[in-house]
Amino acid sequence: MAKNTDNQKVRLGFTGVGGRGAHLLERCLDMNDVDVLTVCDIQERHCQRAWKEVVESGRPEPKIYEDHGQMVKRDDLDGVVIATPWESHISMAITAMEADKFVGLEVGPANSVEECWELVRTAEETGSHCMLLENCCYYRDCMAVLNMVRQGIFGELVHCRCGYGHDLREPIITGSETALNQKDGRNYRGLHNEKRNGDLYPTHGIGPMAKCLNVNSGNRFVSLTSTASKSRGLDDWAENNLEPNHPSYNVDWSIGDIVTTVLKCANGETVIVNHDVSLPRPYSNMYHVQGTNGIWKRTFESIDHSEENPGLTLESSIYLEKKSSGHEWESFDTYQTNHDNPVWEEYLEMGRKAGHGGIDHLVLRDYVMSVKRGEHPPIDVYDAATWMVISPLSERSIALGNEPVAFPDFTNGAWMNNDPKFGLLGDDLPEHL
Ligand SMILES: NC(=O)c1ccc[n+]([C@@H]2O[C@H](COP(=O)([O-])OP(=O)(O)OC[C@H]3O[C@@H](n4cnc5c(N)ncnc54)[C@H](O)[C@@H]3O)[C@@H](O)[C@H]2O)c1
Repeated sequence: MAKNTDNQKVRLGFTGVGGRGAHLLERCLDMNDVDVLTVCDIQERHCQRAWKEVVESGRPEPKIYEDHGQMVKRDDLDGVVIATPWESHISMAITAMEADKFVGLEVGPANSVEECWELVRTAEETGSHCMLLENCCYYRDCMAVLNMVRQGIFGELVHCRCGYGHDLREPIITGSETALNQKDGRNYRGLHNEKRNGDLYPTHGIGPMAKCLNVNSGNRFVSLTSTASKSRGLDDWAENNLEPNHPSYNVDWSIGDIVTTVLKCANGETVIVNHDVSLPRPYSNMYHVQGTNGIWKRTFESIDHSEENPGLTLESSIYLEKKSSGHEWESFDTYQTNHDNPVWEEYLEMGRKAGHGGIDHLVLRDYVMSVKRGEHPPIDVYDAATWMVISPLSERSIALGNEPVAFPDFTNGAWMNNDPKFGLLGDDLPEHL
């Protein structure tokens, strides 16, 4: 890869400029130290839209590609951001690393355990990096809690909970206009929910919890069990909202409505992860962090997409022995202020940027800074493989009647010696916001 320094611009290519990819592109075009040289999508109209965005930002015309493999061969790209459907995103990351590109990879499930090994081996063999763009790690409350965990305020951690609670019945069943690759118009979510029964979106939940538990740096996941409820929510929605001749009316969905996974860590902690996308419900990541001194839990989350006041409202509660009165929850607000990650203090002062309440900007800044310096990213290829492999492992456990399944150690033992401070999210970001 061409060497870069702090003073130079990072030269990026984007593969998959549909919904999420277009948003990531827009965020990057806000950054003075990013140039976008190429955009790639199998849909011409998405390429054209992305091309226009780049040109309107005052940058030179980007070259359009239909083929990711061709695009990544260019030797003038420092990094490639990938936001394609779940079937292809990991294999594309592998192709990009083989071409010596620093990958920024959107979240989603792995298709198989082997695919995750290949991702890790490619990074090790090529020396290229892959950062998982897990924006949820950058939530203001999660970053403050991580700070508190590192200061020992919760004592020794014992248990965490998290998940992905998001009513996605309509997009799963009816798909989206971006879904070119399926005959019936459903998108990648439809395909995977039809064919797979497991936790298909584990990383938004497990990301911040894995950072608190020092997974891959002093700790690791050793096994999991998964249990799926019956599958009813998607059928029920289709019956109530579609005409019987709709192609998705009679789909035989594999996914259980609620998939509950329990992970066991080498240091003895347990983590419950829920996947809950097929029933009516408000959005939630269900975060809980519990240790020998007390417990924190996210209690409310709401995303406002309005033009006037876009943003995210988060509320959480805490109970700390000898600090909180009686056995009562108290508001997290004061703790939030007292333990804010410096990145958030600075970020609020300058006015947070759009995208899930600002977290999209933060994750991309960490990515851009890592590419610029050629440094190991804070959410690295081992984290990416460890968090995304939960999907095929949970499928395996469910298929075996909820049997425990051994968790691969992608670090090949290095987790025992890796510095827990390594990969401190946003550590030196303030000066680079
Ligand atoms: N982090 C987040 O908050 C967040 C939010 C939404 C989506 N995502 C992730 O982003 C990814 C994309 O999701 P989306 O909702 O934007 O999907 P989408 O269908 O809107 O966009 C995917 C794009 O990839 C393109 N594509 C498909 N195959 C391709 C190929 N072989 N080569 C080039 N382009 C190809 C499609 O034409 C489409 O434009 C998924 O992995 C999803 O999990 C993350």
